Amino acid sequence: MIEQSRTMDHFHYRDGQLYCEETPVAALAGRFGTPLYVYSQATLLGQLKALQTAFAEVDPLVCYSVKANSNLGVLKVLAAHGGGFDVVSGGELFRVRRAGGEPGKTVFAGVGKTDEEIKAGLEAGVLMFNVESEAELDAIARVASAEGRVAPIALRVNPDVDPKTHRYVSTGKKESKFGMDIDRSLRLAEAVAAMPGVSMIGMHMHIGSQITTTEPYGGAVAKGVEIIAQLREMGHPIAWYNMGGGFGINYRGREARPIEEFARAIVPGVTATGCRLAMEPGRVIAGNAGILVSRVLYTKQSGEKRFLIQDAAMNDLIRPALYESFHRIWPVAVPEGLPAPPDDFEAAIAGTEPWDVVGPVCESGDFLAKDRPLPRLDRGALLATFSAGAYGMVMASNYNTRPRAAEVLVDGAEARLVRRRETYEDLIQQECLEA
Ligand SMILES: Cc1ncc(COP(=O)(O)O)c(C=O)c1O
Repeated sequence: MIEQSRTMDHFHYRDGQLYCEETPVAALAGRFGTPLYVYSQATLLGQLKALQTAFAEVDPLVCYSVKANSNLGVLKVLAAHGGGFDVVSGGELFRVRRAGGEPGKTVFAGVGKTDEEIKAGLEAGVLMFNVESEAELDAIARVASAEGRVAPIALRVNPDVDPKTHRYVSTGKKESKFGMDIDRSLRLAEAVAAMPGVSMIGMHMHIGSQITTTEPYGGAVAKGVEIIAQLREMGHPIAWYNMGGGFGINYRGREARPIEEFARAIVPGVTATGCRLAMEPGRVIAGNAGILVSRVLYTKQSGEKRFLIQDAAMNDLIRPALYESFHRIWPVAVPEGLPAPPDDFEAAIAGTEPWDVVGPVCESGDFLAKDRPLPRLDRGALLATFSAGAYGMVMASNYNTRPRAAEVLVDGAEARLVRRRETYEDLIQQECLEA
């Protein structure tokens, strides 16, 4: 069996100090301030390469899901190493183009594309549109015909498998707002054959996110093979099997399967169709490529409860509040006698006590962790919140008029600011005092 290191990342402790690749994280916090997102380029590229290699048999196009982390610096390095992109808005398409991504390697997904977004996708020459409803199909056909173009499309089919993940990130069930059930998709496919303005070149599925087992993919692919056969019988030139994203990562221990195991569940079915594989991974590329660094402001005790108040908050990383997600948290400089890092972040660790790690935002939901074994830390100590590279900064807000964090991209011993910290002036720039 292939054993995956905990997170396949390039964050490690050396003499009790946390490093991102060859760069000490404490030095980054000193130079760029906190809260600070730190990304490892080697991790981003290592994960991209791992996907390209594991699925090599079906000539994969890895369309990184921009929604996971849309920083231009991140997109640029992925584009430069053969990555394609999955976008869900005109804004994401704009980012991809600005970062040097190729529209011809970009799929345009999302349940609510506007006419303007469809037009922008057509003009850019995206590889295909993932179609989520009859009404959207009509809109794409109409806009394309008016432009004198033919839009390449893939119907998004719900294979009705249970991805066994958090209900907020499960999408492949019949009752999901995404895509269409199999019968409906096939009926619609009949209609597409006679429609000007669209050509069905692919079939798309995305069954959910943070999927940690391979069975849901096996089940979905088995259905996909049959659907593609039926689509081809109708005369559609299906050349792409788009499997979506969803591969889970290790947030706490070794809960997710290695990429190679997902490949073993998916590749045989795709091979049987003769299609090229497109995929839309987000979290598995960016998730463990990023950490959020924060600084302890205060500690306080209320009855039995201990609170560690630090300068990152729910507006910086909303996943714990939104999904009760678990993120490993550990000091950047580990005090004497403590593991660097612990093998299990939830078990009792000698020299620690349970702390709620909270931020300065005025909400009880403003926490990064609850009852987490941590050493007593002084004001100014740095903390690292791991696995924060995906669905972290992209969901950040200015709630409580807090400027959003800075982001740095590390490459070995070099660190590059890829988003400067917002200023108060930035926060009010779009507002108008005059009537
Ligand atoms: C259609 C589609 N593709 C890809 C993704 C990326 O998922 P993940 O980051 O879990 O790989 C999502 C996430 O919601 C999605 O909705």
